[in-house]
Amino acid sequence: MEFTGKTAVLSGAASGMGLLTAKCFAKEGGNVVLSDVNPETLQAAVDEVNQIREGCAIGVPCDVRDYEQVCAVRDAAVETFGSIDLLVNWAGGAETRMLNCKGHEFPDTPIEVYDWGLDVNLKGQLHFDHAVMKQMREQKSGVIINIGSITGEEGCQKNVAYSAAKSGAMNGLTKSLALYGGNYGIRVCCISPGPVLTRPGMAKMKTLLGRAAEPQEMVDMVMYLASDKAAFITGVNFLMDGGRNVMRNKE
Ligand SMILES: NC(=O)c1ccc[n+]([C@@H]2O[C@H](COP(=O)([O-])OP(=O)(O)OC[C@H]3O[C@@H](n4cnc5c(N)ncnc54)[C@H](O)[C@@H]3O)[C@@H](O)[C@H]2O)c1
Repeated sequence: MEFTGKTAVLSGAASGMGLLTAKCFAKEGGNVVLSDVNPETLQAAVDEVNQIREGCAIGVPCDVRDYEQVCAVRDAAVETFGSIDLLVNWAGGAETRMLNCKGHEFPDTPIEVYDWGLDVNLKGQLHFDHAVMKQMREQKSGVIINIGSITGEEGCQKNVAYSAAKSGAMNGLTKSLALYGGNYGIRVCCISPGPVLTRPGMAKMKTLLGRAAEPQEMVDMVMYLASDKAAFITGVNFLMDGGRNVMRNKE
């Protein structure tokens, strides 16, 4: 029970890797604040996590684009459980898929689509980092995990904003906040997944290892980075892509 008495705040926790992180953290004795933009799926997710240990989870609906809503998640976490020991910024997604705006070239895609891509995938993470860092600074402890993507390394003709947000932007954010957080015992890292089977479609993305990742493989890394075993790790991005990024070098 590695996380007994600890509290995790997870954005985008109504599905996929966010929900899985919530379950794993609860199974290890921790409390979880799940937040997501979709209130219905969020409530179902909270109910599932509370089945692991009654009362260990609460849900706070929140659109990561709205800083006040993000602060309300932080405040609910502190009021209910007293501290925030882990933040994982799972909320995100590629704009043309999430907004169902496919089939256009870059200049013909409405600018609002790219605004959404940057607001959710970059500003949303900055919002949560900013709000939660305030609490962690008071505690003089905590771990923040930002979420990048292999798409940031590779570029993407369709999801231009997603790629921009999940690449150097996420690296710069992570390194900058690690520099600041180091003054207060706060570690900040980034995980950049390759294809992960939260959707069957990811199976067709090639990797050096010949498969996509199981969601649990990403969440295992989160659990490691959140633990004291990773107490010397901060300011780095972990590209967990099954070697996809080096495939082009293969002879
Ligand atoms: N699945 C992959 O192959 C893969 C690869 C690289 C990176 N990632 C990243 O990992 C994260 C989680 O991916 P997943 O596959 O578990 O996705 P998912 O779609 O299952 O989960 C993302 C969650 O974010 C929520 N969300 C979307 N917009 C939001 C907003 N404005 N405010 C709050 N919540 C919002 C969604 O409702 C959803 O529950 C995402 O950031 C994704 O970009 C995933």
